[in-house]
Amino acid sequence: MSQDANPNRGFATRAIHSGQEPDPATGAVTVPIYATSTYVQQEIGKNKGYEYARVSNPTRTRLEENLAALEGGTSAHVFASGMAAITAMFTMMKTGDHIVCGSNVYGGVPRLFNQVLVNYGIEFTYVDTSNPNAVEAAMGPNTKLVHIETPTNPLMDVCDIAVIAKIAHKHGAELSVDNTFMSPYFQKPIPLGADIVMHSTTKFLNGHSDGLGGVLVCTKPQHKETFAFVQKCTGGILSPFECWLVLRGVKTLAVRMEQHDRNGREVAAFLNTHEKVQEVFYPGLPDHPQFELAKRQMTGFGAMITFETGSFENAQKMLRKVRVCSLGESLGGVETLISHPATMTHAALGVDGRAEIGLTDGMVRISVGIEDVEDIIADLDQALEAM
Ligand SMILES: Cc1ncc(COP(=O)(O)O)c(C=O)c1O
Repeated sequence: MSQDANPNRGFATRAIHSGQEPDPATGAVTVPIYATSTYVQQEIGKNKGYEYARVSNPTRTRLEENLAALEGGTSAHVFASGMAAITAMFTMMKTGDHIVCGSNVYGGVPRLFNQVLVNYGIEFTYVDTSNPNAVEAAMGPNTKLVHIETPTNPLMDVCDIAVIAKIAHKHGAELSVDNTFMSPYFQKPIPLGADIVMHSTTKFLNGHSDGLGGVLVCTKPQHKETFAFVQKCTGGILSPFECWLVLRGVKTLAVRMEQHDRNGREVAAFLNTHEKVQEVFYPGLPDHPQFELAKRQMTGFGAMITFETGSFENAQKMLRKVRVCSLGESLGGVETLISHPATMTHAALGVDGRAEIGLTDGMVRISVGIEDVEDIIADLDQALEAM
């Protein structure tokens, strides 16, 4: 643990200082980008702790210390993207193992399971993880992992991390939580019982839509051993430059998340009363089915909102008109990003897969940025008029 991983310090202090201590060689206040592929060795078997950059790099070490501190884990391992991190997590599985996965998660996850991992004889069951009974019913003797997102993507259901952790542990399985939507600023799955926390650092952690990345934050020595080994064996690690971008991004995570949350609440309230919007999915609305759980489990409601326009045509008409909001995949950047899950993030589920989870062609997902909220609302208002 680095000295500034002190859990008694506040979140913003740890974000700015954990792993981000001044460079011991020069005093540089910003962690340097160690652009090197290898390290000179003093003699055979004698080095300064770094041998080859696929195995480790000082910029990466600093980011891994920082993210472990923010999530309250014992180690962190960064990968080239969120999907690379998820793929690394599944290298823990063996043929015949079973995974229980949320049915309403980022579409790339079931695509990886159904089109790649299935060929390795790993079994999957998809369940509505906002219903703990469904998780319990899906557990089997060979279940090794329960993987959830909360709030779910894009329907924004909230899953009870503490209850699901107990179910997983009772059956000898581990719980992994994709915490991308909330960031460690608003939700900390590890104290609630999660064994592994995963992020696409591409989103809120980096926060500026200028780099891909993924992380697994772990709680056990065998995770550390496994994932450091996977980094070395498979090589899908995060580059020093992108590690540096995330180190820079997390310094402002606390202030960004506060503003994302403030803007998110206002945009959700606006959409909720707009006559052309049929339904709004946002855990901060009192009529959200898990509003009480959201208040208990999260310290903010965040910036992710999904709303129903009624049809593909309506979604198309409004999305053609947005100007402040940018139409595109991804989320968590300072700019407001608006997307159409059925044809973008969840296209891989297919028509039937989307129908099964209640994801319609009229749904639009918005990642509310930190622009002036009046401008975001005015933009949405004029775009909705086109429907
Ligand atoms: C919640 C969530 N998890 C994981 C991923 C995958 O991350 P990446 O795009 O960095 O591979 C995404 C991507 O959109 C996501 O939204």
